[in-house]
This record gives sequence, structure tokens and C-alpha cells, in this order.
Amino acid sequence: MSTPEVAVLVGSLRQGSFTRAVAQALIGLAAPRLHLRIVEIGDLPLYNPDLDEGTPPAAWTRFRGEMAGVDAVLFATPEYNRSMPAAVKNALDVGSRPYGHSVWAKKPAAIVSVSPGLLGGFGANHHLRQPLVFLDMPVLQQPEVYLSKVQESLNEAGELSNERTRQFLADFLARFADWIAQQQPA
Ligand code: FNR
Repeated sequence: MSTPEVAVLVGSLRQGSFTRAVAQALIGLAAPRLHLRIVEIGDLPLYNPDLDEGTPPAAWTRFRGEMAGVDAVLFATPEYNRSMPAAVKNALDVGSRPYGHSVWAKKPAAIVSVSPGLLGGFGANHHLRQPLVFLDMPVLQQPEVYLSKVQESLNEAGELSNERTRQFLADFLARFADWIAQQQPA
């Protein structure tokens, strides 16, 4: 198999996001086995089926097109109120329609949850697993990634400076690459 194309969906829309900084680091750590790139979700209008009746919003068409072209999906998300941010759920909804044209089905997925707090976004991580079951995405089970106290792993430039975290994430990405390869039809 050639190098898998992996969309990285970042659940935080804010400038200076810790989660985006981690996502950027993951891109470097995944090469050369995986080609990761961030697919933006911040401009997607809230999903409304009425808007799929005529010409859908341009941002939905752009997103669906980008997602159709990838082999796998990596979710990097903070936790909002013990769940996933609305931006992530909205992206899932937009990509799941029109009915029968989901961009998600059968695509291998993995989740990295991020928090400045101690729980590492556990609630977001596990709530996200629920729709991925319905969307028929084989999700990597182990290793689980709950990145707690994330600011302690990043330097002033937003780079992943903690060697233990770097090694852990590199091992996680190697397992994800194996998982993607296993999901290919024989
Ligand atoms: C948060 N935050 C948060 N953190 C957490 O660990 N568990 C939670 O349930 C929540 N809830 C929550 C709700 C809302 C609306 C906001 C804006 C924030 C704090 C959050 O982890 C913190 O703002 C991170 O910095 C968000 O990630 P980014 O934006 O740095 O990537």
C-alpha cells in the first residue's frame, strides 16, 4: 500500500490552541509511514438537512470532497463540558449526509484527546467513540491517548518538547499505521 493519506480534524477553533499544536506535532511524528494533514472544520455551517436540498454550502462541499479523498481519520480534540466540542459533532453530521454518501464509512480512525487538566479529555474521547460506531469507522482501541496537562508538554513556540510524550505519541502513530494497514481489503 502507498503512504496512507490521513485527515486530522482539530476540535478547537481558537488561535493558540494546544490541540492544534499537538496536531502539528503529530504530522511530523507520523512521517514517513503516514501522510497527515489538517482538514479544517471551523467554517462548516451547522448541519441543516434543508441546505442539502439545493446547492449545499460551499464549505460542506469542500469538506466532503477533501474527506472523500483520504484513507483514514485522526481526531485531535479538546473536551468541552465532558464531551466533544460542537465543531467535531457538526463535522461528523455534515460528512454523514446526504444519506448514502457518508464520507466516514469503513475509514480507520484514531482519537487523541487533549486537556490542560488532569483527566486528559477522557469524556470527549469516549463520547466521540459513540457516533464513530454508528458511522461504521473501525477505531483504534489501544493505545488510548488522553493527553493531560498538555501545556507541560509544549514549549513557548508550541512545539512538543517533552521527550516522553513525543515517544508515546510516536508509538501511538506506529500502532495507528499498523491498524490502517490491517483494515485494507485483502
Ligand atoms: C473547557 N475546558 C474543559 N477542559 C476539560 O478538561 N474538561 C471539560 O469538560 C472542559 N470544558 C470546557 C468547556 C468549554 C466551553 C471551554 C471553552 C473549555 C477547558 C479546555 O480544556 C481548555 O480551554 C483547552 O485549552 C481547550 O483546548 P485548546 O483550545 O487549547 O485546544
